[in-house]
Amino acid sequence: MRASIALKPVLDAIGEQIDARFDRLLQVPEDPRARLYEAMRHAIIGGGKRMRPLLVVASCDLFHVDRERALRVAMAIEAVHCYSLVHDDLPCMDDDDLRRGKPTVHKAFDEATAVLTGDALYAIAFELLADEAAHEDPFVRAELVLELARASGPSGMAGGQAMDLAAEGARFDLPTTTRLQQLKTGALIGFSCEAGAIMGKAAPPIRMKLKGYARDLGLAFQIADDLLDVEGDPEAAGKALRKDEARGKSTFVSLLGVERARAQAEMLIDQAIGHLHGFGAEADLLRAVARFAIERDH
Ligand code: IPE
Ligand code: IPE
Ligand code: MG
Ligand code: MG
Ligand code: MG
Repeated sequence: MRASIALKPVLDAIGEQIDARFDRLLQVPEDPRARLYEAMRHAIIGGGKRMRPLLVVASCDLFHVDRERALRVAMAIEAVHCYSLVHDDLPCMDDDDLRRGKPTVHKAFDEATAVLTGDALYAIAFELLADEAAHEDPFVRAELVLELARASGPSGMAGGQAMDLAAEGARFDLPTTTRLQQLKTGALIGFSCEAGAIMGKAAPPIRMKLKGYARDLGLAFQIADDLLDVEGDPEAAGKALRKDEARGKSTFVSLLGVERARAQAEMLIDQAIGHLHGFGAEADLLRAVARFAIERDH
């Protein structure tokens, strides 16, 4: 087995780079939009594991993509992710007061501002990708936009969130729950991993390997989130836990129980790493992220 990479310093470094860039991008204007900008900054600066940005950077590194361009795409996926969290926390959805150890946007500001914060972050993501600074080839930029739109829309995250709502009270079987999780969480993780292949114009078989890695990682990541909900420490997680069962959410844990769900997550991570067969040490970061995805406490 390869020496594992200590992930915390890598995640912290990506976090700082992302924060610095959003700090510059989201300067608060001296006009009535100030509150919206403050709320966007609250949602996106200074928090979160930054796992999706790290996946973008790690997948871009495989193909020697320029780091500044990789960080731009990393910002785009983090913007969509943060938008999804702001809306996920709203009273009409999960009704949560705490996110990343801070009050949720609708608590720190108000519900209307939280809705607009999500809308604005979502738009910013596509602005970042469509800009010439993302890639010199307009076809690559268009593909990034297309794939992120797919991953976040009704066939991706938003569709998964709709299934998640429908799951309350209904009892979904394992295939339906798997589909729910693939859309809700897997699609954005999938984009993060494929971004490098798109930017680096990788050959289709190489791109398929990353797709396979992402599919298994995404599922394992959401199982870990659901396990944390049952047995995690809210202080470490920075959000309220023990909510899924009360709300009748359909999760791998509710269907399989804790032990089998954990075994399933471990199996998926082995499988995810297996997809990286053929890559050498340049994929060690992706291997390390895969292990982190299920060993994390937050
Ligand atoms: C939380 O995602 C929502 C899920 C899709 C499970 P993360 O666990 O990546 O949240 P942050 O970005 O670290 O706050
Ligand atoms: C949220 O899933 C997934 C998205 C925001 C797309 P959860 O509702 O399980 O995430 P947490 O537990 O609130 O972070
Ligand atoms: Mg939710
Ligand atoms: Mg939630
Ligand atoms: Mg959860």
